[in-house]
Amino acid sequence: MKRIVILISGRGSNMEALIAARDAGRLPVDIVAVISNRPDARGLETAARAGIATHFIDHKGFAGREAFDAALAGCIDDFAPDLVVLAGFMRILSEGFVRRYEGRLINIHPSLLPAFPGLHTHQRALEEGVRIHGCTVHFVTPALDHGPVIIQAAVPVFDDDSEASLAARVLTQEHKIYPQAVRWFAEGRLSLVDGRVRLAGDHGSAVALVAPGGA
Ligand code: GRF
Repeated sequence: MKRIVILISGRGSNMEALIAARDAGRLPVDIVAVISNRPDARGLETAARAGIATHFIDHKGFAGREAFDAALAGCIDDFAPDLVVLAGFMRILSEGFVRRYEGRLINIHPSLLPAFPGLHTHQRALEEGVRIHGCTVHFVTPALDHGPVIIQAAVPVFDDDSEASLAARVLTQEHKIYPQAVRWFAEGRLSLVDGRVRLAGDHGSAVALVAPGGA
């Protein structure tokens, strides 16, 4: 069974979705560790309660990004993972770190990339007036919030949405597509061809989302 390490910085709801999928038999992976850069990350307690090894490496204790990333890589490598899963891990990673885990480092981002890389994605989507927003799971490359897309989910944006209501609608989808992406990785169905992801096997049925849908 593939071994995964999950990196978090806070709440850890995506991590919880992965644990729940594993427990439900929908995600055949061994979650070998959860590592946080913040000692107070709420998700650490959740992971420990689930019987998963937890670690924190406080980035504030390091002189620079490279030193922190080296310590982080050392901790990760102790668990010999096949896949490193960034789940709300709020640190920019150095190029050396990203290259070390090339093809086995994935991230979830709360927008339909390449729209809205970076922070405050829901607020920016509302300000731009987009009618469709969503989330993306992608392989990590040195360019922030870029990299080959594995799966995306789209949601409508309503006139009366607040940042919180839109974030909640997107988060519900995050919790579905992240376990799906990890499952495809675990099943060996993902490959990279010319910098783009190819999914082997059945792609399911595609449904168009039209928003507003009032016609
Ligand atoms: C999620 O919206 C994720 O897309 C983003 O940070 C948030 C983390 O939430 N990268 P959680 O810690 O998984 O609850």
